[in-house]
Amino acid sequence: MSPRAVAEAHAPGKLILFGEHAVVYGHPAVAAAVDRGTTARLERIAGPTRLLAADVDDARLGDALAAVLPAEGLGVRLRTDLPVGRGMGSSAALAVALVRALAALEGRTADLEECVTRGFAVERVFHGTPSGLDHTVSALGGAVRYVKGQPPQPIAVAPLPLVVLDTGIAGDTGELVAGVRARRPAVDVELDAIGDLVDAMLPALARGDLQTIGAGMRDNQDRLARIGVSCPAVESLVTLAEDAGALGAKLAGAGGGGVVIAVAPDPAPVLAAARARGVEAFAVVVRSDRATEPVG
Ligand code: PMV
Repeated sequence: MSPRAVAEAHAPGKLILFGEHAVVYGHPAVAAAVDRGTTARLERIAGPTRLLAADVDDARLGDALAAVLPAEGLGVRLRTDLPVGRGMGSSAALAVALVRALAALEGRTADLEECVTRGFAVERVFHGTPSGLDHTVSALGGAVRYVKGQPPQPIAVAPLPLVVLDTGIAGDTGELVAGVRARRPAVDVELDAIGDLVDAMLPALARGDLQTIGAGMRDNQDRLARIGVSCPAVESLVTLAEDAGALGAKLAGAGGGGVVIAVAPDPAPVLAAARARGVEAFAVVVRSDRATEPVG
């Protein structure tokens, strides 16, 4: 490939299926890329690098661009179909899309290591000291078993039909993580049980056993409530989804709002129930054909 005048790249957002918060204390978590994401388009312009258009408004975007792009000569256009600030990895998708677009502009393809290393600088603009899960999943795609400090492990996930329901509330990840830390060691029994649940779910995820996955989400949600990261808006969407036929539902991400995910073999009644209450909701199918093997 030779250098180009214009380049565009896309990267997906993610959902944490099981294990948020426990992952901070060395337990495994499972997260998967979704078929929604962020597209970055770069074009060569005269003068300082700047944002030309974006369908999100965030004061940190300038710093995010500066973390990975040259100071001069690029115009940036951003588009996303992810809800922003809801635990779906919109900033991580932005990070990886920017790294990929810059490489494409230079006539190269960014590999996983480049996406992870350079993308982390963008993630830090938004999240301070993130665990790294979000942008690693965005760069890899598919589904991943993640243990802090270890190489991510791609895992097999049979098509998993989910409905994502938006509480409309942006939870503060830093505050929620600090709250759990302050409640230790009393909540350690729940964190340990969440860690065990994650690995117990791997066979069900691989064979597409939706009943077991749904029951696991219900169990994970109960434990997340007991460590203090659920909230009335989350609980109400979990009940709404389960009443409409979902097999289980949980918050996904840090909690305190954000999105709820519900296992829904038939998404239509869950979507209809959400719409009837004025709740933003959409269906996604998470899948991965990858075998369970570590990447180095
Ligand atoms: O808000 P999110 O989706 O980035 O999720 C945070 C997940 C936590 O486990 C709560 C924190 C972390 O850094 O892993």
